[in-house]
Amino acid sequence: MTGPGDPAVRTTGAEDAHGVVIGELRRRDLDRYVALAVANSGALERELRLQERTERELGTLSGVGVWLLLSLLRLLGRSPVRMLVATERDVPVGTTMAILSGPWAYVAAVGVRDDRRHRGIAQGLVRRAEEVGRKARKTWMVLEVDATNEPARRLYAKLGWTAGASVRWWELPAAPPKERTIPTRPATRRDRKVAHAASARRLGFEIPRAYVSPCELACRGIGGSQETVAVGASGAPALVARSWAAQSGEPGFLLPVVCGAPSFAEGAAVLEAGRARLLRRGARGIFVPVVGDDPTLEMLLVRAEGVPKVTSEFWSKPVVPS
Ligand SMILES: CC(C)(COP(=O)(O)OP(=O)(O)OC[C@H]1O[C@@H](n2cnc3c(N)ncnc32)[C@H](O)[C@@H]1OP(=O)(O)O)[C@@H](O)C(=O)NCCC(=O)NCCS
Repeated sequence: MTGPGDPAVRTTGAEDAHGVVIGELRRRDLDRYVALAVANSGALERELRLQERTERELGTLSGVGVWLLLSLLRLLGRSPVRMLVATERDVPVGTTMAILSGPWAYVAAVGVRDDRRHRGIAQGLVRRAEEVGRKARKTWMVLEVDATNEPARRLYAKLGWTAGASVRWWELPAAPPKERTIPTRPATRRDRKVAHAASARRLGFEIPRAYVSPCELACRGIGGSQETVAVGASGAPALVARSWAAQSGEPGFLLPVVCGAPSFAEGAAVLEAGRARLLRRGARGIFVPVVGDDPTLEMLLVRAEGVPKVTSEFWSKPVVPS
């Protein structure tokens, strides 16, 4: 009999004592995989309205051509996403995926059917995702978890992951655009470099140049676009903000980085520029992550009538090359 805490699930393709096998998702299991992943999504996905998008995006993979292409890319070691599933007697009971865009491997959609928990299935899935990251030569495994999700936090801690900065997600109102008194300007390369360094300081984590943010991942694809604006001197900006829009009807993201000491009017102008752009692009929900303690940004968000929605945590684990 396997007790809680025994990592009984094997990830080699062999069955464990419960008949659970962890492996790559097969096309015929895609619908059940998606249903399970959506059923297990938590406050973070719900508040940021990402469930429908996940469902739709994963649904598009079911076409034979797309599936074949993904399988071929996987064989060549170039697939941008690897979907892993735990099956018991051929029925999916656990999910995860490793997203391999950029130098990090993102782990997402970790979930186990509620009547199959406490058997080490999630441990097996995450370990397998780590193996995928290692084989793809990524430097770090990273993920974001709802800060109140104690079972998941314990799972990652048990597997040697470390909790980093907290991320408070705010939503800006979808009211009509306001008039701005201060003009913003497109961010220059140097502005973006300064903002990148400031983001790394906030996160307490070295961010490689080719890094792809989770907001970018959520907005990539047809209809996705970005724009970065700044206020203050070029090369020494007070505030830089990148907005990420997906297709119309999808959530949009605004990522402001305080680099200097923006005045209230400057801060309001940058937030309003990003908000107005995302509204024009048909964003349904405008979400702003605030990394760590950032009283200046939070004050600007309060004055822009933003509302805090949910707090997540950034977790990471270095990939140890074999
Ligand atoms: C979190 C979750 C994936 C764990 O799945 P699981 O298969 O039951 O986890 P495991 O059996 O592999 O447990 C591994 C470790 O996780 C921790 N853990 C799992 N469930 C826990 C619980 N309810 N309370 C506290 N710790 C828990 C424990 O440290 C456990 O080790 P232990 O058994 O030695 O104490 C599962 O509860 C789930 O699907 N939750 C809903 C979806 C979700 O929150 N996903 C995470 C998104 S980031």
